[in-house]
Amino acid sequence: MAHDSPLIPSPDQVTYDAYLRVSDLIRLQHPLSRPEHHDELLFIVIHQTYELWFKLLLHELDAVVANLRAGAARGADDEVYEAARLLRRCTEVARVLVEQFTILETMLPTHFLAFRGRLRPASGFQSEQFRELEFLCGMKDPKMLRYHEPTPEAYASLERRLKEPSLKDVFFDALKSLGIMPEVDKHATDETVFRARAAAILSIYRDERRCRHWIDVCERLTEFDELIVSWRLRHIQMIERTIGVRLGTGGSSGASYLKMTLDKKFFPELWEARTLLTEG
Ligand code: HEM
Repeated sequence: MAHDSPLIPSPDQVTYDAYLRVSDLIRLQHPLSRPEHHDELLFIVIHQTYELWFKLLLHELDAVVANLRAGAARGADDEVYEAARLLRRCTEVARVLVEQFTILETMLPTHFLAFRGRLRPASGFQSEQFRELEFLCGMKDPKMLRYHEPTPEAYASLERRLKEPSLKDVFFDALKSLGIMPEVDKHATDETVFRARAAAILSIYRDERRCRHWIDVCERLTEFDELIVSWRLRHIQMIERTIGVRLGTGGSSGASYLKMTLDKKFFPELWEARTLLTEG
């Protein structure tokens, strides 16, 4: 009905384009191949789409951190509920990230090789936001900073993330301040800290009636972990299908290097707790 009597914005009103900056967005794709290869636009658009979703994930996960902190400070459940709600959004975005590779797989290996040389030495290693996501979730490898030396702003953001408490730190600090997890001696070994964390998760699952929202947070974090591993696996499968076992443009051994990242989990304590649960 509204469609029969369109509302045309007056010059001083916001328009679809002014709000969403679509005209800027659709001019941000600059293929390098000459003559331009048909599939290079797909290659650029898919990466840009991933980066937009990474941006949203960082925004949501920062809000999860803020909610967990506030929930712990107030000893209240509302913020824990909100953290779980936002984490659900993150898992849905991550599901899309896993699925999206099928679009890129419509590109023939021969077509990619026709313009791949132009990209070198650009590489996914230089995705600042992907690394920020890892650092934010507690997977901090300072060696990865070196790929960002040519871009000082990205380097500074990553350095900041490296120093800041991660989502994982904030999550376990919240459990400590709520008395769910005991304080661990600051000289304790990594193994002792890991065991204490897994035991705290176990106690949450054993007290379902009082810890519903915390269980929801744990379930969403576990699912997020699962989906990021799926993302890593699909990325490798797509690479093998497209370039086989060639070296990466960023200088790694390619798929065989990435396979070593498949064991990486953000929250291994959440997985360990499942083994510790007793039957019956
Ligand atoms: C034909 C398509 C693609 C190929 C052949 C490819 C290949 C590779 C290779 C070989 C690496 C290892 C680093 C290197 O030596 O360059 C890598 C890393 C990476 N790629 Fe891709 N990739 C492709 C598409 C994508 C897409 C669509 C994304 C989405 C953002 C992406 C994100 C990343 C990230 C974040 C890393 C770093 C992973 C880590 O350090 O664990 N790649 N890629």
